Amino acid sequence: MQHRATSDRELGDTMNEKNDRAAWIKAGDAQCSIPAKPRALPPRLILLGAPGVGKGTQAELLCAGLGVCQLSTGDVLRAAKCLCETERTPAINDALSYMKRGDLVPDDTVLNLVRERMRCLRCRGGFLLDGFPRTVPQAKALGELLENETIRINAVLNYTLPIATIVERLSGRRTCANCKAVFHVSARPPRVIDVCDHCGGKLVQREDDRPEAVQVRMAAYEHSTKPLIEYYADHGLIRTISAEGEPERIYERTLAVLDA
Ligand code: AP5
Repeated sequence: MQHRATSDRELGDTMNEKNDRAAWIKAGDAQCSIPAKPRALPPRLILLGAPGVGKGTQAELLCAGLGVCQLSTGDVLRAAKCLCETERTPAINDALSYMKRGDLVPDDTVLNLVRERMRCLRCRGGFLLDGFPRTVPQAKALGELLENETIRINAVLNYTLPIATIVERLSGRRTCANCKAVFHVSARPPRVIDVCDHCGGKLVQREDDRPEAVQVRMAAYEHSTKPLIEYYADHGLIRTISAEGEPERIYERTLAVLDA
């Protein structure tokens, strides 16, 4: 695949100009801070894997390297927390309580969010879906939406990691309250403690990274999301990648898989 960053410096520079993904996060008429460059063969990828496996971290590297946008349903739902009471629909209030517990948000709510953001799926720069689809009904609905637009997914990247490492990653995760960049207290620390390298925002711990919520999230993954591996394998799209080791090595593995 083309459009990859060729050096750490180039990667770093691109990441400093992180797209605010306004069209995805805010929907409606919102425009992204860095408009996507149309291309002949846009990368259209789905990231799969258990909570905490490192999908968001790889998404950040892949977005910088491939020049695509990270479309995370989790980020849209978390952004809804910042809306005032009058702006929140009952479905959004419900969704936030599911998230807090670690449960999956109902399919209808998630699919409505995605439908409101169809222009991001039509984007001629491509996309990287992170955290969606997460159930077989969501995957089927996505398949129909894309088929109507004659858009095809190139690959589904399935990241794997032992559970003990996942728990370690989740407990040390810190996320930028402003631009949503992801750090880890020891494995990927920010240059200044609790301050985002990219935008200077405050780094916070997600409320669903509490041990009780992590257990619920893992169970939801086993029950509802893991069946997607077989679903997409049947479509010939699954590419399984070990998520062990440093993020940059996993990123290189991912590029090798995409090139193959
Ligand atoms: P979402 O935001 O999608 O979260 P998730 O899938 O649970 O995944 P995470 O963001 O927790 O982990 P990640 O794999 O991205 O790992 P990360 O890169 O941060 O969803 C949250 C909730 O929203 C759901 O539980 C659900 O309620 C709801 N929701 C969202 N979408 C939905 C949908 N479609 N349907 C229904 N409900 C939905 O890495 C984790 C940590 O490890 C970080 O600190 C990172 O710095 C560190 N790290 C990463 N890679 C490495 C490495 N290689 N070595 C060492 N440390 C690393």
